Amino acid sequence: MIANVILRLLEKELMSVKISTEPMPADYDYKAQPDSTELSHIPGTFGLPVLGHLPWVFNDLRALSNKLLDKYGTIAKLNIAGSKGIFVSNPDVVQAVFLDRHRNFSNEKAMENNIGRFFSGGLLLIDFDEHKEQRRLFQTAFKNEPMKQYVKQMNVIFAEHIQRWGDVDEFKFFPHIKQCLLTTAASIFIGVKSDEDVEMLNRNFIDMFEGMVGIVQKEIPGTKWARAKAALRNLKDHYESLIPLRRDTEVSVDFLSYLSKEKREDGSYFSDQQIVDHINFLLMAAHDTTASSLTNILMELAKNTEWQQRLREQSLAMDKEFIAYADLDGMVDFDHVILEAQRLHPSIPMTWRRSIRECEIEGYTIPPNTLVYMPLLYNYRDPKWWTNPDQFDPDRFSTQRAEHKNHSFAFTAFGGGAHKCIGMHFAKAQVKCFLHQFLLTYRFTVSEGYNPKLMMIPMPKPKDDLPLILERIQ
Ligand code: HEM
Repeated sequence: MIANVILRLLEKELMSVKISTEPMPADYDYKAQPDSTELSHIPGTFGLPVLGHLPWVFNDLRALSNKLLDKYGTIAKLNIAGSKGIFVSNPDVVQAVFLDRHRNFSNEKAMENNIGRFFSGGLLLIDFDEHKEQRRLFQTAFKNEPMKQYVKQMNVIFAEHIQRWGDVDEFKFFPHIKQCLLTTAASIFIGVKSDEDVEMLNRNFIDMFEGMVGIVQKEIPGTKWARAKAALRNLKDHYESLIPLRRDTEVSVDFLSYLSKEKREDGSYFSDQQIVDHINFLLMAAHDTTASSLTNILMELAKNTEWQQRLREQSLAMDKEFIAYADLDGMVDFDHVILEAQRLHPSIPMTWRRSIRECEIEGYTIPPNTLVYMPLLYNYRDPKWWTNPDQFDPDRFSTQRAEHKNHSFAFTAFGGGAHKCIGMHFAKAQVKCFLHQFLLTYRFTVSEGYNPKLMMIPMPKPKDDLPLILERIQ
């Protein structure tokens, strides 16, 4: 621990990032610039023709990160299907890029040619002043009173689903939790409750997510991409049709109502287009991350049954069927389990930005408009910051050990800086409410020697969808 702190101070001296601290010239249109790919001075290669490192990113991002960063140090070239940039893991760089006090890194330009094709206008894809203004749109929806209501709503939906699962033959957790969280999201995010509407959302979501990762990325009839784009239009039309209804309701109980009623500083409503884009992104950002998080938590608890029992005993001691919003803060061991599962199996294993002005990273000059890929997962198992990094050990997050404080940007499961996850508390509330009920209803295990292949894209989870053996307790 002390050695790590000294190491960190020495590294700070070496300063692995030098960025411009001058204000950006007012007439400089960084959005009009193409990506810069002249990176011949950076170690490594751009991988295969056309695909670059894409197959390895898809197949095993962790193995690729270990291979490139262990071979070249903390910086290397990376090419994802023609989007060429640098691959850099150092937490000091993550810190400089996330905090970005001097506006050197753009989200919009980094993401427009990938997730931007389906989620443009989402909060994560907006830069600087515009981002700051639009983040205000969410302020009421995440306050304590609405949060208390969401917790009540999610508890009821979770109970219905969890009770049914004990009767399912060959139960696989992932598809069931996805369905359960979609029903929860439809109700809490957009106020949709009928089975028919939830089914419609489900169908369109599946088409959209399957098509988004298709190889052919053109709207050619019959392709998955065309189906995905059609699904996106259906979803957006549906959200838009709900806005006037939600604005008219007296009492808000869902996100869409809060967003529809939120006003700008000048007293006007945010536009329908903005609200639709935000809801579209929010549902994606909330849904898969939490489904993946819960799947990985249950995988670890099924393998580490002493932790499963420790949490169950804490739930039993609370002596209530459903927890309330006020209970959440006291569930500290649950927090540590959530963080530890994120450390081992992060829902967001990598993020990226595009530089706006020339900077220096790890001693290399990085031209303006360069894609900066940050494989956050690399830092989460770096023995420099963690003891026995491959081991499931939630107590490492305890106040006494606090390994995550060895460097404040070595663990960024919920991001950092202006774009830090706005739904972090909501996500933790969902996971805790779910775990509480699930632990009280079932004891669960996996088969002897269970060691599944893990996938990372589109979401980190065991490839076999986590077959669980459930033993009903009540
Ligand atoms: C375990 C669950 C979750 C994890 C691990 C997670 C992680 C993250 C991370 C790492 C970022 C920042 C990405 C970057 O800077 O490139 C982020 C942003 C965001 N997340 Fe989450 N998230 C989770 C759940 C949620 C939920 C439940 C919601 C909504 C209720 C949500 C809404 C958002 C939004 C809107 C942003 C963009 C914020 C901004 O740009 O200002 N997330 N999330």
